[in-house]
Amino acid sequence: MDSIVVTGGTPLKGQIAIAGAKNAALTLMPATLLSEEPLTLTNAPRLSDIATMTALLQSLGVEVTSMQDGKVQVLSSHAMTSTTADYEIVRKMRASNLVLGPLLARHHQAVVSLPGGCAIGARPMDIHVTALEAMGAEIELKDGYLHATAKGGLKGAKVPLRFASVGATENVLMAATLAKGTTVIENAAREPEIVDLAHCLRRMGAQIEGEGTSTITIQGVDRLGAATHPVVTDRIELGTYMLAPVFAGGEVECLGGRLDLVGSFVEKLDAAGVDVTETAGGLKVKRRSERAKAVDVTTEVFPGFPTDLQAQMMAMLCTADGTSVLEEKIFENRFMHAPELIRMGADIEVQGGVATVTGVKRLKGAPVMATDLRASVSLILAGLAAEGETTVSRIYHLDRGYEHIEEKLSAVGAKIERVSS
Ligand code: UD1
Repeated sequence: MDSIVVTGGTPLKGQIAIAGAKNAALTLMPATLLSEEPLTLTNAPRLSDIATMTALLQSLGVEVTSMQDGKVQVLSSHAMTSTTADYEIVRKMRASNLVLGPLLARHHQAVVSLPGGCAIGARPMDIHVTALEAMGAEIELKDGYLHATAKGGLKGAKVPLRFASVGATENVLMAATLAKGTTVIENAAREPEIVDLAHCLRRMGAQIEGEGTSTITIQGVDRLGAATHPVVTDRIELGTYMLAPVFAGGEVECLGGRLDLVGSFVEKLDAAGVDVTETAGGLKVKRRSERAKAVDVTTEVFPGFPTDLQAQMMAMLCTADGTSVLEEKIFENRFMHAPELIRMGADIEVQGGVATVTGVKRLKGAPVMATDLRASVSLILAGLAAEGETTVSRIYHLDRGYEHIEEKLSAVGAKIERVSS
């Protein structure tokens, strides 16, 4: 199994190109199920999660053509053969559940296994199910599969979400494009990936208003057509690489970076003593002094601080001056990186959803184990600052969300390599 070896202590200098967003691509790809005509996605990221979604869509009969080394994906659902999303694929990735809404909308039926994915809490699907039931679907759980039907098609409805779930908002948004009448999603999630999905659906002919706010209104149409859509920049990859020079020193420009994608994160960086400046090509990052300052962080739905940057931020605060309190409000059980960071010399106390981090002067390299996607990358970042060598094993999680991470970091001067054993 591959591992990544990082030798800390080298300041970074240069540019890192940020890819298209994994989480946007994973909802844009199933949007193809809404139309017989092709959907072309440009700026697609090259990741194993994208390969998993490709395999899932192909198992339904979708034709997927990958071009320009995977950066362009052409998807066509004109010859569908199945409406069942099998456990063998779904268990690898929770985002597989995003086929449920589109299948129900166009085919009036879907059988979707309950998902797997990162082991970060229970992650149920009740919000998706309640919302689609409000639109007239009948959904039963049998043998680990959701069996959903919408006889005569879905109907527009008022759909209040008990929590602003990203996936549920995406499923309902896609489903509503082909429902009869008007759907109003209340307490909708406002993440940039949802705005990107709405833009793509509109290009396909959908009638949508209010994306990016808590109320999204969708007027159902009879059919959707072909479209070409560029995937929005990955704000989580962006935030991760913005942290690299905070760990290692030096200065990095993240190409494609936009302040509106990472506003709350940049506020915390500023408070921690990190300068972020807009450039013609993106965002440039440099820490103001040798050591960052402690800051308190609470994860929230967008535009709050993203849970997907919590592990990376915690790793950074391990060597900041002072004590920081991190509260994880989106997922239970999302501090699995803490014991690994402690193995590197960090001072962290976890109690329920709250972690107290007291900065130490320097971390020490150690063999560590990645337990989920963002936890893995937080250990790589920690390795950039640590004394000596850090070996991160079980890195298959990393390949789900970061394309060519060792190449991107070594291009700006990091000592990092992938080792096969
Ligand atoms: C998406 C992102 C993920 C990110 C998360 C929160 C994708 C592919 N993944 O995941 O990277 O960490 O948003 O920003 O876009 N919940 C329920 N019932 C439901 C649905 C969700 O209780 O029916 C709970 C979950 O257990 C979790 C919280 O709501 O505690 C947030 O989940 P949700 O916003 O749905 O996240 P995902 O769409 O799964």
